[in-house]
Amino acid sequence: MKHLLLFLLSLPILTACSNIKDELVVSSPDKNIEVTVFNSTEGRVGYIVEFDRNIILDSSFFSLDFNDQSSFGTNLEVVIISASSFDETWETIWGEQRYIRNNYNELKIELKEKSELGRRCFIVFRVFDDGVGFRFEFPEQENLSDAVIVDENTQFNLTNDHTVWWTPGDWDIYEHLFNTTKFSEIDALSKRNHPSLAQTYIPENAVNTPVTLKTQDGVYISILEANLTNYSDMTLKVDKENLLFQSELVGNDSSIKVKTKTPFVTPWRVILIGDEASDLVSSRTILNLNEPNKLNDVSWIKPTKYVGIWWEMHLGKSTWNMNSGRHGATTENAKRYIDFASENGIGAVLVEGWNTGWENYFGNKDRDFIFDFVTPYPDYDLNEVVRYAEEKNVEIIMHHETYTHIPAYEKRLDTAFALCKSLGINAVKTGYVGQIIPDGEYHHGQWMVNHYRKVMEKAAEYEVMVNVHEPIKPTGLRRTYPNLVSAEGLRGQEFNAWSSDGGNPPEHLTIVPFTRMLAGPIDYTPGIFDIKINKYKADNQVNTTLAHQLALYVVIYSPLQMAADLPENYEGHPAFQFIRDVGVDWDTSIVISGEIGGYITIARKERNTDKWFLGSITDENERTINVSLGFLDEGKEYAATIYSDTEYSHWDTNPTEYKIEEKTVSNNDLLKVELAPGGGTAISFKSLIN
Ligand code: NOJ
Ligand code: CA
Repeated sequence: MKHLLLFLLSLPILTACSNIKDELVVSSPDKNIEVTVFNSTEGRVGYIVEFDRNIILDSSFFSLDFNDQSSFGTNLEVVIISASSFDETWETIWGEQRYIRNNYNELKIELKEKSELGRRCFIVFRVFDDGVGFRFEFPEQENLSDAVIVDENTQFNLTNDHTVWWTPGDWDIYEHLFNTTKFSEIDALSKRNHPSLAQTYIPENAVNTPVTLKTQDGVYISILEANLTNYSDMTLKVDKENLLFQSELVGNDSSIKVKTKTPFVTPWRVILIGDEASDLVSSRTILNLNEPNKLNDVSWIKPTKYVGIWWEMHLGKSTWNMNSGRHGATTENAKRYIDFASENGIGAVLVEGWNTGWENYFGNKDRDFIFDFVTPYPDYDLNEVVRYAEEKNVEIIMHHETYTHIPAYEKRLDTAFALCKSLGINAVKTGYVGQIIPDGEYHHGQWMVNHYRKVMEKAAEYEVMVNVHEPIKPTGLRRTYPNLVSAEGLRGQEFNAWSSDGGNPPEHLTIVPFTRMLAGPIDYTPGIFDIKINKYKADNQVNTTLAHQLALYVVIYSPLQMAADLPENYEGHPAFQFIRDVGVDWDTSIVISGEIGGYITIARKERNTDKWFLGSITDENERTINVSLGFLDEGKEYAATIYSDTEYSHWDTNPTEYKIEEKTVSNNDLLKVELAPGGGTAISFKSLIN
């Protein structure tokens, strides 16, 4: 329902900005966030964001640079202003939450150049209770049709030297550890070809989005984007002198950032704001800034837990390549995983290394004919595996490692997905290891953004869900295409198996929920019980306790959630009961408490049951957290099964020690959650029928 909203002209609080001629103000429905848009004397349009009456982003401007015409962003006048508000509650097909309220006030301003060119653009602000989204909309017009954008200069003008949780603005891969520094101490160095990641181009002094900040006053801010469509990923250039972030779009070797034509819209530039770190995690604004579901029949889209022929390759127990004599994806091994899944109520089995080509993987320059995505190795009877899985009521997850030969994959998309459809396979994990072919393109550039989109749409056509590794980061497209179920896009569990830098430190996943996870679901692949992996990798280990691994099923959100360890490490293990029980699709999610890089506690209620689950993790510091169970349904008693560290557990010296306790609880109770260094607690709550 839309209706006109009053906007205020010239708020007195803004008289400090001398250049302001006209000011328009739009606030959040609860009035805590206020955005002021103004036109400076040089005809530049800027915005200011206030939260609780304090400026959190000061005068910030924007402009677009084109390759063959003058920049757009100065000498502008306001032509038309419209204001509206929107309030709707919609139902998700799957997700952290069943019903989402989409409530904002919108201000849409048409800007026109006063010069002869007279180019036009709308700037649209949507102000929610937990953040602001804005984008530029260029209508069809005489003096701007084909457009090659060489820079988008959108500013986020900080008010102080905030604490920032950041990763470098890599054009190829998000698989970096998070750094915690003051803004002025961000030292993202330029690099080409990361030693252990093979690909990547990192420009000097830029960070990736989502990037999260904390102000001296304890306000949390995250800058990210929503609905990345036919555009390139937004990183942020760090201007230390002016305490300013400025958008730096990912480009290619022809210095093109975006090639488009009018009419076009940019992705939403989003600023999430809260006075608790947990507010950022609870926000659904990214989804609200995307279009509603476009798929008709969604009955084939099913959140599930899965196991897979996967960790064993990362450990070196077996290989993707058949010729090693230690092939992982054999018919027999696949059946072993299927049996395990079926016996334990795990819905699906991922099989990697099933297809020919892995013998030519890595280092091979002529990658065109490495993978055809349809030919199984001779020791893997695909039809028989699928038949057996069906008999056992288990789904098979297909694997497409593209090795980043994009033209080769695109050529074979139809045959690859037709095979899935013919076998009744409803999920694929895709992968993009290596440097993009064609040369000069990067994983996060517009060309690849369009490729990832094409694959997602093709998969939808064949009724297949996709889980993308080495992806373009999520930007909420899962609302529009609910078959885009999960993505990697961070340093996943695999690093603990082979990284020469010691793997992911205990604090890693206490930062991820407040940064990368704001963008969308994460295929982290939790659940490693053999923490020390001494049998296969003497120099590597997982840097958490076992109970922390369990808690990740609640803390890290994904509708496809892997039980990543080897079946032999789960067989007969009492803690595996938590993985059997835990949900993957949620009715409600509540972020109970958390501090970025310290700890986080989340409770989630399973969709269509009355079970609740709680996960709490800490960094390398032990801590005790008092959790009110007030989230549990009123008037019910629950049998709580608590999987926790013991007083002797420690991520390094004693990671597998844990205990299981049973308690009867209700929503009046307070629970003392004790976390060991690198530890965690996982709780399942089943309601007791009186
Ligand atoms: C990297 C992915 O992240 C990993 O999950 C996969 O096993 C390998 N590529 C091989 O495709
Ligand atoms: Ca990866």
